Amino acid sequence: MMEKLNGLKILITGGAGFIGGAVIRRLLTSGDSFIFNLDKIGYASDINEIHRILNDNELSNRYTFLKVDLKDMKEVENAIKISDPDLIIHLAAESHVDRSIDSPSEFILSNVLGTFNLLEASREHWSKLSKKRKEKFKFLHVSTDEVFGSLDVNKKGFHESYPYDPRSPYSASKASSDHLVRSWFHTYKFPSMITNCSNNFGPKQFPEKLIPLVIQKALKGEDIPLYGDGSNVRDWLFVEDHVDAILLVISKGVIGQSYCVGGFGEKSNIEVVKMICEILENLIPSQKVPYHNLINKVKDRPGHDLRYSIDSSKIQSELGWVPKHSFESALKKTICWYIENVDWCEQILSQSGYELDRKGI
Ligand code: NAD
Ligand code: DAU
Repeated sequence: MMEKLNGLKILITGGAGFIGGAVIRRLLTSGDSFIFNLDKIGYASDINEIHRILNDNELSNRYTFLKVDLKDMKEVENAIKISDPDLIIHLAAESHVDRSIDSPSEFILSNVLGTFNLLEASREHWSKLSKKRKEKFKFLHVSTDEVFGSLDVNKKGFHESYPYDPRSPYSASKASSDHLVRSWFHTYKFPSMITNCSNNFGPKQFPEKLIPLVIQKALKGEDIPLYGDGSNVRDWLFVEDHVDAILLVISKGVIGQSYCVGGFGEKSNIEVVKMICEILENLIPSQKVPYHNLINKVKDRPGHDLRYSIDSSKIQSELGWVPKHSFESALKKTICWYIENVDWCEQILSQSGYELDRKGI
């Protein structure tokens, strides 16, 4: 799979974020493509690990950072000019549902207007490529399962032709960007593809998302906020398995298609939180209160989607993707990483000014 990417110039947006960073680190450490990382550097961004890999392996000739905000068309056009990409993987987005409920405007601007600007600048670039490069050019838009809405218990998982029914400002902004990408394909034949992925987790995820937040709270002996009754279900996928899927689709995916990517890791929130407490209890036994006694049911998220579940058969049968990690083993790996990297959390939280003390909305 990686050999298909060798020597190509790949523009990755959102490469200072959790998933984009994992994609870039993989591309730098295997293969020999040239990476252009476009990111505005938001509250959740971190490029220190990429810099460490560059320095340790003398790879700086294969990496360029472009501090660009997708909301600014001129900056985007300039980034496309500098990178002259063969492939584009678009991950940049505001990504946290609770923030989108508190203040939706940045989600509309970054996720919708930002995607529009990127599509237009990319289309202009693609239209001027030589015939040979034009035939190989691809644009992958990384989206979410949340665009499909909320699934009842016992209903079959989301699939590629499932109707869109976004229900939060975040998912509505992602659904809008998906529609833009689809329409650019149909109208302009712009060679794009979409992936719709379930909840990711793993090392280096900003600790506002459930799994790293619970680990932080437990380690500090603070209340663990569980929204509502904790029965909401998510389909958890280890980030490295998502990276496999993204690289497979950009290498072998069919233009104009979308691919659903899920983790076979459906769990209710209360199950996930209890598992984290149990694993922590085995790794570093709690001193005062058992970790699970810290679980505190708080006011529910408004419009909280009950369940997400993904039917990944298309990407499995057509492209041969399978997640390599079980939820349990990847969760343990993730918890160990957070225990060993308490400083990383402190640093990213203090740089972002984010307080881990929200008690639900
Ligand atoms: P993240 O919040 O960790 O990183 C997003 C990055 O995008 C940040 O570095 C941020 O600075 C950058 N960004 C945001 N707006 C920008 C703008 N206007 N211009 C330039 N850069 C901008 O998010 P993540 O979890 O890594 O998610 C990456 C992508 O994957 C998103 O598009 C998200 O919707 C999608 N996704 C995430 C998950 C998940 O569980 N985390 C699951 C499915 C899909
Ligand atoms: O499904 C894919 C999506 O997963 C991605 O598109 C989003 O970018 C990503 O943020 C994630 O969205 P969720 O809202 O599902 O993730 P979050 O970690 O915020 O919440 C997971 C579940 O845990 C959800 O049901 C809400 C609940 N929750 C969350 C937090 C932060 C709690 O009970 N307590 C909390 O403190």
